[in-house]
Amino acid sequence: MRVRKSPLTVASVPPNARTASAYPPLNLEVHTPRLSLLGATDDLLEQLVPVVREGVVKEPPWPFDDPISHYKDGPEREWAWLRAIWAGRGRVTEGFWRLYFVVFLYGRPVGVQDLIGTNFSKFGTVDTFSWLSAESRGQGVGKEMRQAILHLAFEGLGARQADSAAFVDNIASNRVSQALGYEPNGMDWDTRRGDPAELRRWRLTRDQWRRTRRDVITLKGVAACLPVLGIPTPRAR
Ligand SMILES: CC(C)(COP(=O)(O)OP(=O)(O)OC[C@H]1O[C@@H](n2cnc3c(N)ncnc32)[C@H](O)[C@@H]1OP(=O)(O)O)[C@@H](O)C(=O)NCCC(=O)NCCS
Repeated sequence: MRVRKSPLTVASVPPNARTASAYPPLNLEVHTPRLSLLGATDDLLEQLVPVVREGVVKEPPWPFDDPISHYKDGPEREWAWLRAIWAGRGRVTEGFWRLYFVVFLYGRPVGVQDLIGTNFSKFGTVDTFSWLSAESRGQGVGKEMRQAILHLAFEGLGARQADSAAFVDNIASNRVSQALGYEPNGMDWDTRRGDPAELRRWRLTRDQWRRTRRDVITLKGVAACLPVLGIPTPRAR
C-alpha cells in the first residue's frame, strides 16, 4: 500500500482534534504542506503502533539497534519502543532532552521524527532521528520531515548547528542530509545487530540551513516549551 494518493500540494489533514496537555512538549506541532509533526502523546503513539508493527526490517542494509528499527519481531519490539519513548520523554535535564513527534502524511500516521538536544543551552547543537514506514519512503517525505524538524530547531529554538549520522550504506538518510545542505563531518562507529559498522557524520550550520529553509513551514506551541527545555529565549546566534 502506497500512502501517496493525492497531489503533493494538498495540505495534510490533521488527525482528530487533540486535547491540550499540561506538559508543553506534547502540544508542539510542526506543519509543512504535506506533513504534520505532532508531539507524541500516548494517543498518537497508539495510532502509530500498527505501522511500527509492520516495520520490521527483514533484509540489509540493517538499521540502528534502536527499538523501532530492531529486527526482533513480536510484541517485545513495540513494548521496547514505547518504553524508550516514555523514558526519553521523562529524561529532561539541563544537559539533555529529546522531543518525540509522530509524523502524519495526509492525516495518516507514517513515522516518527525526534529532535535531540545535548548540552543545548551551552552549544546550541541538536541531532535528529527519523523513521518512516516502508511504503512511505522514496517520495520525498524523509526530506520534508527533516526540513520540518530543522525549522523547529533553528527558527523555533534558536539552534546553532544540527548534526546527523547514518551508516554508510543507508543511502536515503545520507542523501537527505546532503540534499539539505549538510556538510560531511567525519566518520564514526555504532552497532547494528550487535556488530560494529561505520557511520557517516554530517553537520549543518545555521547559515547553511538558511539557504534551504522553507518559510511555508509553521510551528505551534514553541514559546510554552522553552522553559521546559531550559531555553530562556531563542538566542540570536
Ligand atoms: C531515512 C528515511 C527517513 C529517508 O526518507 P525517504 O522518504 O525514504 O527519503 P526521501 O524520499 O525524502 O529521499 C531523499 C533523497 O534520498 C534519495 N533516496 C531515497 N531512497 C533512496 C534509495 N533507496 N536509493 C537511492 N537514493 C534514495 C532520494 O532520491 C532523495 O534524493 P534527492 O534529494 O536527490 O531526490 C527513510 O528511508 C527511513 O525511514 N529509513 C529507515 C529508518 C532510517 O534509516 N532512519 C535514519 C536513521 S540514520
